[in-house]
Amino acid sequence: MKRILFVDDESKILDGIRRMMYAERNRWDIRFALGGEAALRACEESSFDLVVSDMRMPGMDGATLLGHIRDRYPATARLILSGYSESALARRAVPVAHRFLAKPCSASELRSTIEQMCSLQDVLSAPEIRRLVGTVGELPSLSSSYARLTEAVSDPDSSITQVAEIIEEDIAMSAKVLQLVNSAFFGLALKVTSLSASVSYLGMETIKNLALASEAFRVLVPDKRIPHGVCEAMQQNAHRTAAIAGAIPMEPKIREVAVVATLLHDIGSLFLASAMPGEFCSVLSHATERGCKPFEAEEELLGTSHAEIGAYLLGLWGLPNLAVEAIAHHHHPTRIPHSGFDSTVAVYVADLLADELEAHPRGSIGLEIEESDRACLETLGVLPRYAEFRELALQACN
Ligand SMILES: [Fe+2]
Ligand SMILES: [Fe+2]
Repeated sequence: MKRILFVDDESKILDGIRRMMYAERNRWDIRFALGGEAALRACEESSFDLVVSDMRMPGMDGATLLGHIRDRYPATARLILSGYSESALARRAVPVAHRFLAKPCSASELRSTIEQMCSLQDVLSAPEIRRLVGTVGELPSLSSSYARLTEAVSDPDSSITQVAEIIEEDIAMSAKVLQLVNSAFFGLALKVTSLSASVSYLGMETIKNLALASEAFRVLVPDKRIPHGVCEAMQQNAHRTAAIAGAIPMEPKIREVAVVATLLHDIGSLFLASAMPGEFCSVLSHATERGCKPFEAEEELLGTSHAEIGAYLLGLWGLPNLAVEAIAHHHHPTRIPHSGFDSTVAVYVADLLADELEAHPRGSIGLEIEESDRACLETLGVLPRYAEFRELALQACN
């Protein structure tokens, strides 16, 4: 049973949440704390899987509370509730909260966000992943420029110029980031040649995530035993999938997450190719023998797949929670609830289309969807629009 702590400075609001969540009492153990101090005392007494806190509270506010929780109980998931008028305040919570929800939110919105967060927590703490990643020893580490960039982006006082300067100092990183910014998936009308313009067009967070994408492909170098060209093929596939995510209609906020997540969705495969080449090769031959997809072969042989492994790694590297979630579930999107066309659905659809176009480049015969995918698209409510998405994908990739 998941243990969830709700924190607010108003007892009336906590009473409202208590009523809202009454139906969940058999699957969630829900506790309440009146204010930040009380919340920290509750965490000292017993551990929680998730803390849901109001942002604006007298004394210790939500960002400060979640900062303490992050430092003392890193495994606890952190969700912040904030009002629309508090965006400046909420920016302080960006580095400490996994997810944000705007107040007032409906019971179903709150419930599905909690479900999504709990399920990601389960996926990332699965013993199979711990065991696999544990055998590798030290994980590849990212450059010091990326570390400085992360720090600057999470500081509410840093300016666009400061962020751009950090990237500019790293020549390889700045070339790669500019290349990504100018790729078709962002649909910018003009070619952007400076990093400060990139940061002001796409925002600090997106630019940081693009830097992470370039870093990930730089540090994960396939082992010598892996056939030449595997890494290039993976990069091409990542770009094609991102281009498709850029072409499918969706809300801009969702697209921002989806483009970054598509660029990185199969990074777990690259990790296997670099850190566990033996397993990588067995997966490929198993998939060929059985005529199944590589992720299915991974699940059979390793008990998990590149989706969860990649999500785990990217979570450690500081990719935002929504993108990590989209990556973790990109082969099983129906295992979490969705309220519409969110970034997880977007990544799943773009990946499916990219694979289809790869198999049938002209798109003429690629009209067969596998039964399991058809059922999945149906459940997600996107089957009626799939033909339209395929047309857009074809245009984007040709
Ligand atoms: Fe995948
Ligand atoms: Fe893929």
